[in-house]
Order: sequence, then C-alpha cells, then structure tokens
Amino acid sequence: MFFGIFEKMQQWDSNYEVQSLYQSYFADLYDKLTQETKYDLEFYDKHTILCRGDILELACGSGRILLYLASKGFNVTGIDLSEDMLDILRNKLSQQPIDVQSRIKLYCADMKDFSLNKLFGLILLPATSISLLKNYSEIEMLFKTVHKHLRKDGQFIFDYRDNYSSTPITYSPLITWTDTTPKNEQRVLMVQECNNFLESKSIVNCYSEIKSNGRKKRLFSYSEKAIFTFDGLQKIVHKTGLKIVETREMIIYENEKLKIVVLGKV
Ligand SMILES: C[S@@+](CC[C@H](N)C(=O)[O-])C[C@H]1O[C@@H](n2cnc3c(N)ncnc32)[C@H](O)[C@@H]1O
Repeated sequence: MFFGIFEKMQQWDSNYEVQSLYQSYFADLYDKLTQETKYDLEFYDKHTILCRGDILELACGSGRILLYLASKGFNVTGIDLSEDMLDILRNKLSQQPIDVQSRIKLYCADMKDFSLNKLFGLILLPATSISLLKNYSEIEMLFKTVHKHLRKDGQFIFDYRDNYSSTPITYSPLITWTDTTPKNEQRVLMVQECNNFLESKSIVNCYSEIKSNGRKKRLFSYSEKAIFTFDGLQKIVHKTGLKIVETREMIIYENEKLKIVVLGKV
C-alpha cells in the first residue's frame, strides 16, 4: 500500500491518519490540483460535436469535464462513487447560471453497475478512471452496463495508461510542493507513483502535512489502479456487443502515455 519514502515516514512518526484519495481533505486537494488539467478536453470536444443525444460521464468526480460540457450547452449526467467529490461538484454547480444547472443530473453510483433507464449519445470515462476497476471481470461488467445505456449510434470513450516497461517495477519522480492554504496554514504535499508490472498494478502514494498555530497534522493517502493491456481490453470489447471505432495515443508529459479508445455498438 505505502512504499519507499512514504513507508519510512510512517515508521518514523506514528502520529498520522490515512484517508481515501477521493474523500474529505484529499477530495478537495484533488479538485484543486486538477483545475488546470485540460489535455483531454480538445479530444472530447471533437466527439461531442458529432454526438446525438445526451452525454453521460462515468466517474465524473468534482466535474472538471462535466461542467465544461454543460457550460457548452450539452445535457450531461454524471455518476461517481464518492459523495464528497459530488458535493464539491454540487457546490461549484450552485455558482453556475440556472440554465447550466438545469442541464446537469448527478448520481452517486458504481460505474460498473447502475441503471438509469435512459440511452446516451456519448458516454465518457476520462482521467484513466477505468483502471480503478480491479480486474477484467469488473471491466466486463462496466462494458455491459455501458452497452445498456448507449444509443445505437452512440460512442463510449475511455482512456488508460499504456506504459508497459521491461523493468518490472518503476517509480515516477517524487513530486513535492508547498503552499499556504486560504486559512493561512503551511502545507507540504508529496506524491509518487509506483508501477508494479509483475502484479499489474500502479499505486499512487500521497502525503500532506499541514501546520497551523504550532500544530502539525500528517495525512497519507493512496490509490491503486490496475494495469490493463490493449489485448485484454479488446477481448472484453468483443464479448460485450461493442466494437473499436478509433484509438489514439496521447503523450501528456514525459513517460506518461495514454491510449484513448472510442467504442461503438456492433
Ligand atoms: C481520477 S478521478 C476523475 C475525476 C474526473 N472525471 C476528472 O477527469 O477529473 C476518479 C474518480 O472516480 C471515482 N470512482 C472510483 N471508483 C468508482 C466507481 N467504481 N464508480 C464510480 N466512480 C468511481 C472517484 O470517486 C473519483 O471521483
């Protein structure tokens, strides 16, 4: 769960809390850190123009993409498993014009198993969130659920990390960052990712230290993502009545290669 420097920091000082990455403090932090993340918007723009019908975003989080699409005039439904992420989104939404608010519907649900009794022209699963599913049988459940909610002429678009390496275990550079919060607290943040190709998983570790009035709070968080292969995903596509329409590779920064996959109904 925790590796390297993160594991050591827990051993040196046992005064810390472990919180989920998409809840409470880390949900807010995730939202702040991704406010300027725009690498994928242009790709989604191209597909929304051609889309007939409403849009569904799975794992919509705090609304980075959903709010963007609704402000462009699309009706967008969002699904996420975390009420905390949805609360951040609801809060942002309350500051939007009424017409934007009226175009958005939000549900707290599991992306691999929900039923909205509605068909969508475009279903999106951005930000490599498909890898939050644990294995190929969960992917199969997801694809079947998507199939049930997709119009005949609709498209389902997801992206995933396509970064296989001949080295069995690789580490991203350790990112460290300090700032002062709006409450005037001194904050340190550390993030690193470990790709374990032997176990087909990648683990993100986060540490945050918040100092105010001489007191220090130490918080750790982690997220585990499965490493899927294109061949493995392709097999599930064919089993679930879907077909590959397009694939695109995108390098978002050094060593960070994404594959975007567009699926349609057979
Ligand atoms: C990396 S964030 C992506 C948020 C947003 N789509 C974006 O692009 O910024 C992943 C999101 O997936 C949600 N999530 C994790 N597992 C899920 C599941 N099984 N069903 C629905 N949402 C899930 C988390 O709560 C989190 O908000």
